[in-house]
Amino acid sequence: MKTPPCIPLFRSSSYQVPRHPGPIRWRLDGNEGPLEPSFALSEMTAQQLRNYPDCSQLEAQIAQLYGLTPEQVLVTAGADDALSRICRAFLSSERNLIFPSPSFEMIERFAKWSQAEVRRVPWLSPGFPLPAVLSQMDGQTGLVAVVSPNNPTGLTASTKDLCRLAENSSQALVLVDAVYEEFTEKGLTQAALKYTNVVVCRSLSKAYGLAGLRLGYVLGAPEVISALRAAGMPYALSAPSIVWGSEAFTRGPNQNYLRRVSFERDDLSTRLSHAGFTPLPSQGNFVFAEVPSSRSGLWYRNAFAGLGIAIRAWPEDESLNSAIRISCPGNEEAYADLCQALGTIEQPQSIVFDLQVFLKEAQPKQGTPPRTQAPLWSDNSVVTSYLRTLKEKYSLGLLLNPSDPRLPELIPESQLKSLFSFLSTKTSLSALPQQATWLITNDEKCIPEARKAKNLPIGVLPQIVPERQRERLRRAGAAFVWPSWQTIEEQLR
Ligand SMILES: Cc1ncc(COP(=O)(O)O)c(C=O)c1O
Repeated sequence: MKTPPCIPLFRSSSYQVPRHPGPIRWRLDGNEGPLEPSFALSEMTAQQLRNYPDCSQLEAQIAQLYGLTPEQVLVTAGADDALSRICRAFLSSERNLIFPSPSFEMIERFAKWSQAEVRRVPWLSPGFPLPAVLSQMDGQTGLVAVVSPNNPTGLTASTKDLCRLAENSSQALVLVDAVYEEFTEKGLTQAALKYTNVVVCRSLSKAYGLAGLRLGYVLGAPEVISALRAAGMPYALSAPSIVWGSEAFTRGPNQNYLRRVSFERDDLSTRLSHAGFTPLPSQGNFVFAEVPSSRSGLWYRNAFAGLGIAIRAWPEDESLNSAIRISCPGNEEAYADLCQALGTIEQPQSIVFDLQVFLKEAQPKQGTPPRTQAPLWSDNSVVTSYLRTLKEKYSLGLLLNPSDPRLPELIPESQLKSLFSFLSTKTSLSALPQQATWLITNDEKCIPEARKAKNLPIGVLPQIVPERQRERLRRAGAAFVWPSWQTIEEQLR
């Protein structure tokens, strides 16, 4: 039996963040908030789990926070659910969405589920592109998206922009996606609530650090909220989300975390500028930046992953190929690691070569005997002259196998002394002097030790080696796998 065909729209791939496969210590690619102290599970009663959940008290609690009536509030399964309902209720194949972009990808996806036309308006510099947005609107516009602070750029629209937009959208609904609003002093929520053609969508995923709870909410006019209630599942939230969500609203977001993010955001932007990046002025819990022109966003994603830090890049989106977005961790330890990683990537001081990479490369094909040591390490060989050039800028180290007793046979002492400033074995990498170091190796076993020592591990395997071996090095935590150690010259800036 054949699988029945789904409709073409869903043949395309689902939402996915393209991630490096290596182990990650700090996830700074999802704009998540801080880890909160555990919630009191005991407050949940068995009865609450047995019955279909009731959101009405939570909606009343949120309404009170904003000075609204409960009919003006809808709680949803994350802001994603809110956005999906808004697109379902206000878009169709006869309507269009005005979408300042780049912006949150799911809005565009949900619009396409409704078969609506998506009209993108570029928004890549400070200042909301109001004239372009207004000029794209027509009688078929069902929805105008204002994501502020915007993801991924962190840019904001002003209250004045919003008011002009609301006053000029007689038929269209204006969607204010304000899930990052706690991080800015320039919020739009209060201004938005004055208009019956504007809805605001918010979330506990960011400032409250509760992305796993899946709790979002929409604020707006009772008629709009009633339509959105009808446009989704009747019991979208689980009982634990309702109980813990209510507790989170009572506590409010962690003010220390918000202050810390504001510091990190400014400090990180400055550090990135000094390193040759071009950051945008962000009001979210993240910084978006164009990378230096010689490299791609994907290159930096991989480099940070090699040091155990996940950052966001968009290798699949041509317009964002040269950008990255880094979430502010909001904690000192992770932030110190992030800054150190930036230094290691941008300004390595030393490069450590695993001796095996030279020896392996001297064996071009399996089964052929290695070239003799003399040509490999002779005064004018490729290896020595190459290393001599590198040595002018970096201190070079040589990494040995502790079980390799034949060093004098492998490399003449005179070259050893003249080329390398220090030697290390694979089990004592962390004993090396602490400096920004790139480690070039073909041995996956020494990668965890290198990462512990905060060295950037880089794999080297010739192109003829099967892909699965390269993947093994990446999974162990190598930032990249280069075809030859000589690639390093192209990779250093
Ligand atoms: C702008 C924006 N809106 C909505 C969401 C979805 O939030 P939630 O986790 O509440 O579904 C995100 C998540 O990253 C976002 O960046």
